[in-house]
Order: sequence, then structure tokens, then C-alpha cells
Amino acid sequence: MYWRHDWAFSGDKPKVKVEWRLLRRVFAYFLPYWPSALVVLACIGVAAAVGLVPAIVTRTLIDYLDPRRHGHVSFVIVLILALVAASVAGGLIGVLQSYFSNRISQSIMFDLRNQLFGRMLSQSVAFFTRTRTGDVMSRLSNDVNGVQSVVSDTIFSLINNLVVLGSTVALMIAYDWRLTIAALLVIPAFVLPTQRVGRTTFDARKQTQSKLSELTAYMQEVLGISGILLVKAFVTQAREAARFRRLNADLRDLNVRQAMIGRWFFMLMGVLGTAGPAVLWLFGGYLVLTGQASVGVVVTFATVLLSRLYGPVASLANLQVNVIGSLALFQRLFEYLDLPIEIEDRSGATVLQHARGAAAFEQVTFTYSSAVEPALRDVSFSIEPGQLAALVGPSGAGKTTVTSLLPRFYDPQQGTIRIDGHDIRDLTLESLGLQIGMVFQDTYLFHSSVRENLLYARPDATEAEMIAAATAAHAHEFIAALPDGYDTVVGERGHRLSGGEKQRVAIARVILKDPRILILDEATSNLDSESEYLIQAALKPLFRGRTSIVIAHRLSTILAADVILVFDRGRLVEQGNHYRLLQQGGLYARLYERQFQPLERAAGELLA
Ligand SMILES: Nc1ncnc2c1ncn2[C@@H]1O[C@H](COP(=O)(O)OP(=O)(O)OP(=O)(O)O)[C@@H](O)[C@H]1O
Ligand SMILES: [Mg+2]
Repeated sequence: MYWRHDWAFSGDKPKVKVEWRLLRRVFAYFLPYWPSALVVLACIGVAAAVGLVPAIVTRTLIDYLDPRRHGHVSFVIVLILALVAASVAGGLIGVLQSYFSNRISQSIMFDLRNQLFGRMLSQSVAFFTRTRTGDVMSRLSNDVNGVQSVVSDTIFSLINNLVVLGSTVALMIAYDWRLTIAALLVIPAFVLPTQRVGRTTFDARKQTQSKLSELTAYMQEVLGISGILLVKAFVTQAREAARFRRLNADLRDLNVRQAMIGRWFFMLMGVLGTAGPAVLWLFGGYLVLTGQASVGVVVTFATVLLSRLYGPVASLANLQVNVIGSLALFQRLFEYLDLPIEIEDRSGATVLQHARGAAAFEQVTFTYSSAVEPALRDVSFSIEPGQLAALVGPSGAGKTTVTSLLPRFYDPQQGTIRIDGHDIRDLTLESLGLQIGMVFQDTYLFHSSVRENLLYARPDATEAEMIAAATAAHAHEFIAALPDGYDTVVGERGHRLSGGEKQRVAIARVILKDPRILILDEATSNLDSESEYLIQAALKPLFRGRTSIVIAHRLSTILAADVILVFDRGRLVEQGNHYRLLQQGGLYARLYERQFQPLERAAGELLA
């Protein structure tokens, strides 16, 4: 009966203020399902009434069976039939009730999951850099799953226990008020230990749960493709196995401890289960012998009614722990739902229809929220529609940062970024995103077919358009040669494709999207000259007829650029075309000498 606390253990001890605002908000989730809730409540009421039948039958039967009354067996048969009918009815009502209560809890979970996922999708990139994936996953799955037990074990169980308790006590009083008092007096002796056990189980369960999530997070890390590659590369299997054994052993011990708390509890229940009836037999026996009560009433009290009293009382004794835990769960979920959305459309934002593709930075200064030093300081430049701009500079200079600001992955603290003269904060995020296409340095492919990965850019593209894009990106040939052609599933991270192939798929994907502004982070990886040639050939049609901002590592791109922007430690230090910048003899000239001239010389020697 204590498994219901599962969810409350992922965090610290629940700190919840029982506030009306919180209760109202939780209640609002139930509101749409009030018809089902009414059915459940009706079931609880009917079940409580039907549940009294055994007590009534027992009492009536025992008193009727007194030989002095000369009763008739047909009445006994009627009583037994009533007993059977009540038990059948009780069972059927139970089925109905669990169907409707499951419908309610699953529907609330459905709503919460949708809301949370939607909220997560609109969170900024910064949110995902500072939040552990595991944490997001855990809220979306474990915490939401906890709602199930809140509905069935806290809310309806509270009502159910109250109704059962109320109806039982009412029948008891109707039978004999003195015995009722005796039965109620035994309760504290029984409730106090139950409450203690409840709390201890709650704590033990919390520890087990947090160990379990530690173990899960660890497995996720090590058994992922990147993790396992690292393990194999550094031959740390033995070390990892040992670490796993330690966590696993802790989990085993905690689980044993928890199970034993349950055992002690049941032993206690067994002892107390006899103490209550003992008191009633004693007092009831006295009443019968002195002619103040019937045998039927006393037997019914000591057997049927007493056990019907203890169940609900034990549950209600743990009510506080349960309710606080349930509210803590909802509070955790609400925390996520209430996360501010850092980057969103301002009211009345414009839809950018057909951008020409002019892009400009005006005195932009930007600091990552986790950093102290600005990643960009006072950066200004402008790129005309259709131009190719190459960003160059040492590692950590801020090139990638520039490209992340344009689609508003982050907003700068100072300055303005414009597309076609519009401040990008005045445009809707959707229309801005549709104008910009990105090819990242690390190509991410979804675990699905090549076709689906390509069509991700534009689901309504025709087969011919898709093949044309793949051909332009020099990817068609190798895709066609894959075992299932375009239907080949590319592994979890596109692992079955080589680096160069993945890049070409990414280029085909962006060709299909056909954005006005292209952002490309050229890979630094040393591809062999064949792949290198293919990628250069793939890029050529991509740059045509659109504004392109390229973090350039290839000489060919730099030479083709209309403007080269040279960054150093967050500042734009030089800008111009290749020859002018070489003449200036500044940072660009030094970078060029180091990085590209050796290549040119080598090429020259080869050709000579
Ligand atoms: N998410 C982040 N949070 C905090 N600091 C960051 C973040 N991303 C980048 N930085 C920092 O901002 C600075 C600029 O990084 P950026 O990635 O723009 O450099 P880069 O010019 O693209 O370098 P590279 O050529 O190595 O890719 C670096 O000092 C980096 O450490
Ligand atoms: Mg970078």
C-alpha cells in the first residue's frame, strides 16, 4: 500500500505550503472530467452501502439462528443470497470505478504531458545548455506518472475512506453505542504505530528512489553510443563495472531495508488485529451475559465491523503524508510549466514574408548567462543581400556566437540585429526561422530514414525535388547505393554514415529548405581530398542566390567570399576582401600564413 509514494522521492523532502492557489490549480485539472468524477463518487457511495451487507447479514443470521426462535431455513437462504449478491455487486462496482478513475488520471496525465512538452519546445537554447537532459526527461515521465497515484490513491481514496468510515460508524451506532465507543477507543493504539511506519517507509522509499535514478542516469551515460565509445577507447570496462556494482549493491540494500519495514508493519498489524477484537469480546461478552446486547451484535462488532473500521482509519492516518506528497508532485510540475520563456514573439510582431537577405549587426554585445566575459563586444557589420560573408578568427573568438544570435537562439544584451532593416526582435520567431537555414558543424540526423531526414526541412517536397536537392549536394549517388536507398535508416546519430556523407545530407536538407539566409559552420575535420572535393562541389550551388554567412575553414570559401569578417576575443578586428586584408598585414594575414599558405605551397609543389 505504500508504493504510492514513488514520485515524491525524486527530490528532497517535500516542502509544500498548502495554499489555496495551489489547490485550486490542481482542481482545475479535474474540472474537465467532472462527469467521470461523478460516476466514481457514485460508485464509492454504492460500494460503501453494499459493503455493509455482510455485517447486517451476520448480525441478523446469528440472532435468527437462536434455536428458541424456531426460524425457517428459507429465510437463511434469502440472507445467504443477499450476501452473494452484495459481493457480486461490489465486484462489478469496483470494476466500473477503476475504469473511470483510470480515465480521469490518464486524461490528466495526457494534458500535463502535452503542456510540458509544448513548454519545453518553446524554451530557449540557453535553457537546454544549463539543464540536464535527464532532469527534463524525469519530469516528463516519472513526475507525470506520479499523477496516476495521486488521483487513485490520494483523492478518491480519501473520499472512499471517509464514506466507508462514516457508514460503518453509523451502522455501529445503530446497533450498539456502547460497543461503538469501545471499538473507537482501540483505534489510537492501532493508528499511532501505523503512522510511524508510514513515515519511515516514506523516507526509505525516498532513498531507494533517488538511488534508482542515480543508477538510471549512470546507465544512460555509459550505455549511450558516445559513452560506450569512450569506455572502449580507454578500456575502462572493469572500472565502470565496479562503479555499477557499487551503485547496484546500495540499491539492493536499500530495497531489503524497505521491504523489512513492511514486514515489521505487518507483524504489528497481526498483533493489534487480535487486540481490538479481544477488547470487544470482553466487553461484549459482559453485555450479552447481563442481557444488554444480543450475540449477533457482539459477534458482528468483533469480526466484520471492526475490520471495516481499521482499514480506512489506517489510510486516513497517513493522509497528511500522502496529501503533502501529492501537492509536492504537482508543484514540481507547475514549476516547469511556469518557467519563463526567455525568447518569444513580442505582441504585434511582424511576419517577415520574403526576405531579401540583408543582415546587419549594430553595436552588438553579448554575454552568455553562465559566463562573465562577453563573447561578443560591440560588433557591427552589414552584409548585402546575396553576399557571401566568411567569418574567420582563432578558436573561441566568437564566430559560432555570431551565427547563434541571428536566428535568436540567444538575444544580445546590447545592440540590434537587423534583417532587411527589421530589428529581429520585431519579427515572429517562426517567420524569422523560415528565412534562415543552418548547417551545423556536427550534423545531427534523426534516427529514421534518409528520406525523412531530408524531408524534415520541407515535409511537402516532392520526390523529384528531394532527389534534385540530394543531387545538387552530391549526395544522391551514395544514398542510392545504400542498402535501402532513401529508405535506409540512419543510426541513432546517423552513425552508419561517414562524416563527409552526413555533411552532404545536411547540405541537401538545407537546399530543400531553400532559405534566403544560409548559415554554415564548415567542418574542420580533415576529410580526404575526394570528400573535400565533393563537399566543395555541394556547397557551390548552395551559396548561389542567397545571403550566406560561413564560418570558413576552407581557402576556397574564403577566396570566394565578398567580405571576410575577422574576429578576435569577441571583437570584430578586421573586415574586407582577401587581398585587402593580406595587404593590411594584421591578424588575418598571420592566420592566413599559418593555416593556408602551407597548403597552397604544398599544392604548388605537387603540381610542379
Ligand atoms: N553556451 C555557452 N555558455 C558560456 N560560454 C560560451 C557558450 N558557448 C560559447 N561560450 C564562450 O564564448 C566564447 C566564444 O565562443 P564561440 O563558440 O563563439 O567561439 P568560436 O569562434 O566559434 O570558436 P571555434 O572556432 O573554436 O568554434 C568562448 O570563450 C566560449 O568559451
Ligand atoms: Mg565555433
